[in-house]
Amino acid sequence: MTERAPPVPADAAADEVERAVADRLAPSPDFLSRVAAVRAELVRRVEAEAGARSSPLVRALVAGSAARGTFLADRLDIDLFLLFPPDLPRERLREEGLALGRAVLSRPETRYAEHPYLRGEFEGFRVDAVPGFAVDDPSRPLSPVDRTPFHQEYLAARETPDLVTQVRLTKQFFRTLGVYGSEAKTEGFSGYLTELLVLRFGSLRALLAAARSWRLPVRLAEPGREPPRLPPDVALILADPVDPHRNVASALSRRNLALVILAAAAYLGRPEIRWFEPRPTPAFSRAEALARVEERASHVAVLALPRPDLVDDTLYPQVRKAERAVAEEIARSGFEVIGSSSAVGSDRVLVLVEVAHARRSAVRSHDGPPPGLDRVGHFLGKWTGPEAPVLQGPYVRSDGNLAVEARRPDRELEAVVRSILPRLALGKDLTPADPTRAEIRPLSGAPESPALSEALRELLGKRLPWLDRAQ
Ligand code: UTP
Ligand code: MN
Repeated sequence: MTERAPPVPADAAADEVERAVADRLAPSPDFLSRVAAVRAELVRRVEAEAGARSSPLVRALVAGSAARGTFLADRLDIDLFLLFPPDLPRERLREEGLALGRAVLSRPETRYAEHPYLRGEFEGFRVDAVPGFAVDDPSRPLSPVDRTPFHQEYLAARETPDLVTQVRLTKQFFRTLGVYGSEAKTEGFSGYLTELLVLRFGSLRALLAAARSWRLPVRLAEPGREPPRLPPDVALILADPVDPHRNVASALSRRNLALVILAAAAYLGRPEIRWFEPRPTPAFSRAEALARVEERASHVAVLALPRPDLVDDTLYPQVRKAERAVAEEIARSGFEVIGSSSAVGSDRVLVLVEVAHARRSAVRSHDGPPPGLDRVGHFLGKWTGPEAPVLQGPYVRSDGNLAVEARRPDRELEAVVRSILPRLALGKDLTPADPTRAEIRPLSGAPESPALSEALRELLGKRLPWLDRAQ
């Protein structure tokens, strides 16, 4: 659907809430000037260092929210981009970029997203130093970060102090809902997407007034621009103004956008400060989960796999895929699957599955061939032998085909999962090299851990988050 923004109704209560929150989120002038000084000093130091070691660096710049003042002070990172000539081989880009970063930052740590970068500190600030190519055309990036200087230019030219305030407010609203951040773990709104939305609608309130009647998928087409193609499960399409073929919202999940649509109506109906106050989620204990399972008269099993050494952005999509594969295979094995969830712990990946009954029936019906085919002899031979695990039959069904009802070897969910593990499509990184390192237990036997608590909340504690925040 294409959007036309509805008028924003006046609301004194919302004005007051938003003013109070905006005041709280606003960095002090002192802090802002410190950030500005550090920004300038960082660029100066990198360029001096590049000169001293005759690095091929074209230029260094600070982009991201630290460059625009749109950061939330308690999660400020300074995004430092080190731009190199487009013809520099990738291997050298990496080496030169990381070397420069290492020379300037203290406590440097190499990280990999889709792209290598360095995290370190500079005068007490956390800095991400990201090497990229100095391209002329942002619609032809050579690395995933090459559009960034153009984003910076685009936003800096359009953002007023009022919009900057609204960006912070919107980030805080999203963060409280748990939908801020485009990393694979969250699948939420990136900082850049948030800024573009605020720019487009003018304020958090105007954005929410539009969002409350959105229907998935939402298409916010720029007039005269060709929006990117739709993947089947896309939630929101917003073309990157500096590269119209890229969907800025490609990382946003349908669940998170739907949550925002519902929250928009709830907030506008009852604007309160708690919409901007993230609360830690209390642990969901195994005892509480077991009580709920008892009430539901269902059964929960916990599969624990060794955690592979992968960055979160690579790991989370694989974990979700493995969760789906496990749940589907369990359903195919004769269990009624009610739900599933997963979580990543420090050394384990957990997949939880809830089934209606802990044990499947012992009987399973097998179809035989239609009478008249040669295969009938084989079927009858197989199912009439002395060892054949037959409970009933062979017999002829009303449709004229042969059938037999056989006894399954295992009935307990855990035993069945153990036997199907080798054929589960867990993906190459999650399939343990040593199959005995995959452990499957009923919930009552699974050790308590933060990951278990998180997965239990996702499985048994689902509820729109704002309903329980009522005062
Ligand atoms: P950030 O994720 O740090 O966003 O990426 P941000 O705008 O600074 O927001 P917060 O306040 O830290 O959450 C910094 C910039 O890097 C670019 C975007 O332009 C973004 O503004 N970027 C980031 C990319 O181009 N590609 C990416 O994959 C990630
Ligand atoms: Mn940032």
